Amino acid sequence: MNEKMNRMEFLKSLGLKGASLVAVYCAGGALTSCINESMAPAGNDGGSTPNLVLDLTSSSYSTLNTVGNYVIVNRIVIARVSQTSFAAVTQVCSHEGKAKVTFRSGEFYCSEHGARFDTSGKGLNSNGSRGLTTYRTELSGTNLTVYYS
Ligand code: FES
Repeated sequence: MNEKMNRMEFLKSLGLKGASLVAVYCAGGALTSCINESMAPAGNDGGSTPNLVLDLTSSSYSTLNTVGNYVIVNRIVIARVSQTSFAAVTQVCSHEGKAKVTFRSGEFYCSEHGARFDTSGKGLNSNGSRGLTTYRTELSGTNLTVYYS
């Protein structure tokens, strides 16, 4: 029996089953094999807050060098609203919880029922009346940081 099997057998002997067994086994093994897309990327602020850091020179995010464009990362819509500013809001609409918020014509817009929000997250019509959660952004060189808190 190899080491993996021994560890699994040991965890089973503790009474762990199914998802909890996988989670514990995963945490006990190589962490790199356990990363999934729902996890926020690690921040570079010293580790206290898991912020998003987007390199605007990378092909994935260079679209943000053009005013009016946006990207969606970890269910956050990040838009270039002017030459000098960005806005970031949750992709999940406050109207009925659909993850359909995008950016168009200088405002955030939900394609499900048409809720509209300004770049500070304030609702612009009745479906958008509850506003959107916003995230602070900061550009340093070519790195755009989106602060989760
Ligand atoms: S869920 Fe967005 S407008 Fe209804």
